[in-house]
Amino acid sequence: MEFIDESLLDYSVLHSSEEPSILKELRKETFQKILHPRMLSSPLQGRLLSFISKIINPELILEIGTYSGYGTLCLSEGLKKTGKIHTIDINEELISFQNKYFLKSSKRNQIIQHLGNALNIIQKIDGPFDIVFLDADKSNYINYMELVLPKIRRGGLLISDNVLWSGKVLKKANKDDLDTKILQDYNKLIKSNPKLETILLPIRDGLSLSRKL
Ligand SMILES: C[S@@+](CC[C@H](N)C(=O)[O-])C[C@H]1O[C@@H](n2cnc3c(N)ncnc32)[C@H](O)[C@@H]1O
Repeated sequence: MEFIDESLLDYSVLHSSEEPSILKELRKETFQKILHPRMLSSPLQGRLLSFISKIINPELILEIGTYSGYGTLCLSEGLKKTGKIHTIDINEELISFQNKYFLKSSKRNQIIQHLGNALNIIQKIDGPFDIVFLDADKSNYINYMELVLPKIRRGGLLISDNVLWSGKVLKKANKDDLDTKILQDYNKLIKSNPKLETILLPIRDGLSLSRKL
């Protein structure tokens, strides 16, 4: 779901820096070969992730939910020469696809893939993180936040995707809709946490930026 008129979105994409060719190729092949291509970050969101990363010029990034590697490559664009991005996904079938594009990128040696449940893996990766991009199973967003917050450096950024959940956050969640309920609670928590300064951007499915104070 997009929250602005499609023609305005097209105009915004047209008047933003162009998606690099490797990412265009990755997007096309994701749609051809991978299940649920809607999970891919959009070109505009991808340029925003890249832009934020270039401003911060991070030494260490953590991405929770790699999927086909689009967000990983966008975020890696701003890494310091010595910097690393850790990216976690539970789906083994995605690894060879990710590798095809990670190998093509100039950042291959800076990307560290982890296979397994992020809840376990996050605990094994040392911070301090300059950026954490939260983009995996919604029902664990609060758990992920609790795990990563102590590992984000002061001034570092927690970026949370899908926080508008196709607009479902506006209505009372059905009893069996845990994802919506958790996202509603999560959005309240990142707004009210005195250690965070948060702005929810109505881009694509909703992207929150929370700066650790
Ligand atoms: C929305 S996609 C990530 C999209 C990607 N960040 C991007 O920008 O294109 C969500 C991913 O989270 C992964 N995932 C779901 N539950 C997970 C878990 N418990 N641990 C690790 N990864 C998980 C899924 O396999 C899926 O690939």
